[in-house]
Amino acid sequence: MREITTKEYQDNLFEVMKSQWALLTAGTMEKYNTMTIGWLTAGIIWGKDVVTCYVRPSRYTYQFIEENDVFTISFYDSRYRSSLSHLGTHSGRETDKVKFVNFHPIELDQTVSFEEARMTIVCKKIYDQQMDERKMQTFGIERYYSHGDYHRFYIGEILKIYIAD
Ligand SMILES: Cc1cc2nc3c(=O)[nH]c(=O)nc-3n(C[C@H](O)[C@H](O)[C@H](O)COP(=O)(O)O)c2cc1C
Repeated sequence: MREITTKEYQDNLFEVMKSQWALLTAGTMEKYNTMTIGWLTAGIIWGKDVVTCYVRPSRYTYQFIEENDVFTISFYDSRYRSSLSHLGTHSGRETDKVKFVNFHPIELDQTVSFEEARMTIVCKKIYDQQMDERKMQTFGIERYYSHGDYHRFYIGEILKIYIAD
C-alpha cells in the first residue's frame, strides 16, 4: 500500500459511487464497525480537502463515527460487489459480517480499513450536523424519510489516501 496526494487522485467519484459503492469504517482494531455507503461527496471547504458522508442514526456504524475522531472510506474492485452488498444489508450489531465476507481488517492511522481495498481515504471529522426536514428545498427528497431517521452528515478532512500496490 502506498500513499498518494489528492492531486494524484484519479477516480471519477460519481461513477465509483454509482456502480461500486464504498465502505465507511469507524473505530479501532479492537472495536470497529463498517457499512456500505452509496452517498459520498468530495471537495474543498475551509481550505481543506474533504469528503462528506451521510449516516442514518439507526446504523450501528453511527455509534462508532460518533465516538471516534477518525474514520475511513474504502473502495473495492467490482469483484467484491456481493461482499459490499452483504455489508450494506446486515448489521454488525447482530452478526460478524466482516468475517462472513472474509475481509481482513488492517490498522491505518489509528483506525481501520481492509486488506481487500484498492484505495482508502483516512478522514478526520471536522463538522457534523443532523439533516433537518424543514430545510429540504426540493420536492421529492422527503420520500427518503418516510420513517424519519434523518441522515447525519460528517465532513471529514482528508488526512491520507492509500492505494494498493
Ligand atoms: C448500496 C448501498 C448503499 C448504502 N448507502 C448508505 C449511506 O450512504 N448511508 C447510510 O446510512 N446507509 C447506507 N446503506 C445502508 C447500510 O449500509 C446498512 O443499513 C447496513 O446494514 C448498516 O450496517 P450497520 O448496522 O452494521 O452499521 C447503504 C446500503 C447499500 C446496500
